[in-house]
Amino acid sequence: MKLKKTLYSINIDSSAPGCGGLAGKCLAVLADFHDRAPGPVLDMLRNDIPDAIMIPGDFVLGYFPEGEEYVLDRCRNAITLLEGCCGIAPTYMSLGNHECMLCDGDYDRLRATGAILLDNEWTEAAEGILVGGFTSAYAISFKRFRDEYNRRNGTEEVKYPYRRRPRDISKHPTDRAWLDDFEQADGYKILLCHHPEYWSLREPMIKDRKIDLVLSGHAHGGQWRFMGRGVFAPGQGLFPKYTGGIHQGQYGSLIVSRGLSNPYKIVPRLGNPPEVVYLQFE
Ligand SMILES: [Fe+2]
Repeated sequence: MKLKKTLYSINIDSSAPGCGGLAGKCLAVLADFHDRAPGPVLDMLRNDIPDAIMIPGDFVLGYFPEGEEYVLDRCRNAITLLEGCCGIAPTYMSLGNHECMLCDGDYDRLRATGAILLDNEWTEAAEGILVGGFTSAYAISFKRFRDEYNRRNGTEEVKYPYRRRPRDISKHPTDRAWLDDFEQADGYKILLCHHPEYWSLREPMIKDRKIDLVLSGHAHGGQWRFMGRGVFAPGQGLFPKYTGGIHQGQYGSLIVSRGLSNPYKIVPRLGNPPEVVYLQFE
């Protein structure tokens, strides 16, 4: 399916903290890359030259490596994408559910590309412009499983003690303490948050927080789209609410990308082309 370009205009009050530096700027959002061929995405970005690139998770295709292998030793397309992005513009990224098995060695490989990995933390991208990355509960849970396994067994670092993703994720917590601080910081706040259901369907209920712009993916546009609606999204179920577009909250907006690929070969995308989202600040 041909890669689509979706452009949203974001109106800002240029007198508000951080907003002066954003006027006229363009951000690209790359969600759910899933280790696919990077050529079409990089060609588009090299043509358009955004001012920054935001990757809100699921840039790898999650699988369970054997032994001492790192996920990113196999997901070479993801590394090529990040290196290419960093050659075009500053690149910020957060962790989705497919990144749940990543280890410290993977994080080293990510950072070596030049990308800025935000794992439940934020950084000041430019004066008054704060970018945070909210880590998927899957990644937090798998790390806890791993730490607990190594503690119980007296092992140094068994990377993949469980050959499955955490189940019943609704019972697993996210890390919200840093988000409380982020919310209180001065500036224009952009949050990369892979799961759109965190917006208003479950904690941390970002919709009610003082964050200007939240960028999500994960829903893959609802996989099949009819009459402008998606059919299914993980974490939201049938006829999900957040599969694409802009959604307004009390203080800011959620933008959901339909994603760049389809990791589920047996369930094709229908009426739902993969997209690169561009945000033009005006
Ligand atoms: Fe996802």
